[in-house]
Amino acid sequence: MRTFIKRIIDPFIQFWFKKYYKKPRRFRYTDIEVLVYPEVFPPHFTFSTKILLNFIKELDLKEKTFLELGCGSGIISLFASSKGAKVTATDINKIALNALKEAKIKNHIEVDVLYSDLFENVSKQQFDFIFINPPYYPRTPKNVQEKAWFCGEEFEYFQRLFQQISKRSFNENIYMILSQDCNLKKIFTTLKKNNLTHICIHEKKVSGEKNYIYKIKKNEKL
Ligand SMILES: C[S@@+](CC[C@H](N)C(=O)[O-])C[C@H]1O[C@@H](n2cnc3c(N)ncnc32)[C@H](O)[C@@H]1O
Repeated sequence: MRTFIKRIIDPFIQFWFKKYYKKPRRFRYTDIEVLVYPEVFPPHFTFSTKILLNFIKELDLKEKTFLELGCGSGIISLFASSKGAKVTATDINKIALNALKEAKIKNHIEVDVLYSDLFENVSKQQFDFIFINPPYYPRTPKNVQEKAWFCGEEFEYFQRLFQQISKRSFNENIYMILSQDCNLKKIFTTLKKNNLTHICIHEKKVSGEKNYIYKIKKNEKL
């Protein structure tokens, strides 16, 4: 994701990017289509969403409970539901959530759509799968739209996320995608401080950038 961000903070690319996303853009995976509003994380030119979709494609999700924390366009949640999962999709961005509510009607796919700052409003149930494609660029987000990209100067997003995971009373399978270009050292130090462990279960190189899917668990049992 960062390679892309490096480009989008370039003034010329920023100009082009804003122009392209002035209007909602369609995004399609298999036969599922979402409308991505300018305020929502765009899966078109980034790799992480597509890598997660292809990874999820191989999973048996029948009757499994599935949480997407920070769902953005909701394409992952809709796809997981189409594979038989009982899906909860959360985000802090209300424009994203409203668009997902429209998309689930248009695609005839059921997803529980929930406004939540990280796990705050998530029910105390155990999920079989939790997927997170986090913002990881170290800058303070100026608005809710920027929260799709920026995790805070001090990686506050990860500090809060890992604290909340470590306090959950379940030992769940949590999957998080990160890229070689983000500050993995800082993120994993924060993770360790919260008594969590990680293991890389999938690696995918796209346009010279290595992307990893990590499984995060409590204790040392992976
Ligand atoms: C990199 S985008 C990923 C979107 C989507 N999961 C995907 O893969 O296309 C990160 C998402 O997390 C959301 N987000 C950021 N901070 C959040 C928070 N504190 N609580 C809930 N969602 C958050 C953003 O609004 C954004 O939709």
